[in-house]
Amino acid sequence: MCENDIPNLPPTMFRRVDESADSEFYAEPRFVAHIDQATIDALTDFYRTFLPKGSDVLDLMSSWISHLPVEVDYERVSGLGMNREELQGNPRLDDFVVHDLNVEPNLPYAEHSFDRATLAVSIQYLIRPVEVMTSVHKVLRPGGRICIAMSHRLFPTKAIVAFQRLGPEERVQLVARYLAMGGFTDVQFLDRSPPAADPLWLVVGTVRPVVT
Ligand SMILES: C[S@@+](CC[C@H](N)C(=O)[O-])C[C@H]1O[C@@H](n2cnc3c(N)ncnc32)[C@H](O)[C@@H]1O
Repeated sequence: MCENDIPNLPPTMFRRVDESADSEFYAEPRFVAHIDQATIDALTDFYRTFLPKGSDVLDLMSSWISHLPVEVDYERVSGLGMNREELQGNPRLDDFVVHDLNVEPNLPYAEHSFDRATLAVSIQYLIRPVEVMTSVHKVLRPGGRICIAMSHRLFPTKAIVAFQRLGPEERVQLVARYLAMGGFTDVQFLDRSPPAADPLWLVVGTVRPVVT
């Protein structure tokens, strides 16, 4: 199936106002926070239970901050994003790669390399999300999990039309469909929005564990 053959969603929903190469838009680093501090804190708190100590973590669409709890040690934290300077400035990353998922949705990692994947406040920029989720599913180990964290801010010229036209509930449902179509099971929605701050909507999915 072609990536944008999502039932009931025409391919136009995956277009953007700015169709120029993402490498141009992300050429300059942006050392800014994309959500309120209270929302970051709520995400970090969620990660305390979602990301087991000692696990191998892949931080997708990463930048200079990953929101991982500072007191927890992981075996490996790998970052993938668009700006080298931002990724170089991220103190949690053991390794990183500059990689445009809208050009090449297949991830540059071996199968079964990670226990967890995170993707924070960036899913709205993917034009081939199901292909990306299918690839994430492959690089996670059986029983591995992904958390896609969403809020309501976006770069309007780079976010796909769907994220500008659909309401919050529909956007969550859309992301849940990305995960289900990518092969994830047990897809769940969690609302961890703190009061009086940017919302925090989480969609998590699991790679089916091996049954022995
Ligand atoms: C709003 S920032 C969020 C950064 C970080 N995840 C956070 O929570 O602060 C969007 C991120 O998506 C990444 N990104 C945007 N388009 C991308 C693409 N086509 N391929 C890979 N990463 C992309 C950018 O490098 C940037 O780091």
